[in-house]
Amino acid sequence: MSGVAGKVCVVTGAGSGIGRELALELVRRGACGLAISDIDEAGLAQTGRLIAELSADLIVDEQPLDVADRAAFSVYADAVASRFGVVHQLYNNAGIASGKTVRDASFAIYDRVVAVNLFGVINGTKLFLPHLIASGDGHVTTISSLNGFMAQDELSAYCTTKFGVRGFTESLRIELLRDRLPVQVTLVHPGGVSTNIATNGLAHAAALGVEMTERERRRVQLYNDRLLRMPPGVAARIIVDAVEHDRARVLVGRDAKLIDLIVRLMPVGYQRFQLALNRVARLTLR
Ligand SMILES: NC(=O)c1ccc[n+]([C@@H]2O[C@H](COP(=O)([O-])OP(=O)(O)OC[C@H]3O[C@@H](n4cnc5c(N)ncnc54)[C@H](O)[C@@H]3O)[C@@H](O)[C@H]2O)c1
Repeated sequence: MSGVAGKVCVVTGAGSGIGRELALELVRRGACGLAISDIDEAGLAQTGRLIAELSADLIVDEQPLDVADRAAFSVYADAVASRFGVVHQLYNNAGIASGKTVRDASFAIYDRVVAVNLFGVINGTKLFLPHLIASGDGHVTTISSLNGFMAQDELSAYCTTKFGVRGFTESLRIELLRDRLPVQVTLVHPGGVSTNIATNGLAHAAALGVEMTERERRRVQLYNDRLLRMPPGVAARIIVDAVEHDRARVLVGRDAKLIDLIVRLMPVGYQRFQLALNRVARLTLR
């Protein structure tokens, strides 16, 4: 079983939201070493301060990292492994959202979202896997989304990556089982969690020179007000519980569980049904 106590854990995207809370939860459960990284250095430093308040003695490796930068990720993985001597658990958490229709989204949006959400996970997993295997008691945790099994309008880049993350993670698990390697795998499908992900999506678009319309901004606000509800600390506890129980798949939140059921019952029909739900939630805006 993948208990956290006494383990060395790596969390990407630890400067905010679910990643920050995952880091804090791992400290509370007795991790003996923690490597946290994020592209946002100020957010990462804040997570470092919160960890220090919980545990003054814990060895924490805190480094800026863009998970899409494979060369930097490779140097990072080697540095973490040599600093701690062993790495047991990897939490592939870093991710970004995007909100444009297929017709309106630029290729730059697809390139960046795929680079971060999909290749970030592939990079981290491939680079840390030899260390996790060598630990004799490893665990890979990957954060997909309810958009890893349900597509949505104006989220095609995000859905593409989260479906992809699911395929990658399930393939990995099958291979590890087949080859009897000592690494467990947990695939996480969160529903709405109260973080800055939707708002940050606006900043990512701006950084790519993509203009967001007033209607798209209002949709982000509706997500924040109506859909992203679960406190990230609660989500982190559910995720780490699943890891400690070696669960292969975890749905985080009632919304994720309900949507999982709807998609199973109506694998095609859910798409029109979703438009009706959107109207109820006023997500279909003019
Ligand atoms: N919040 C939700 O409702 C929700 C639902 C389903 C899945 N998720 C997933 O959970 C994960 C965490 O998201 P969150 O909700 O905590 O959002 P968040 O925006 O609060 O946190 C994401 C973190 O990832 C970091 N990040 C972004 N790009 C990065 C990069 N290239 N390299 C390294 N770090 C980078 C950000 O700086 C930020 O600190 C994401 O993978 C997201 O897709 C979130």
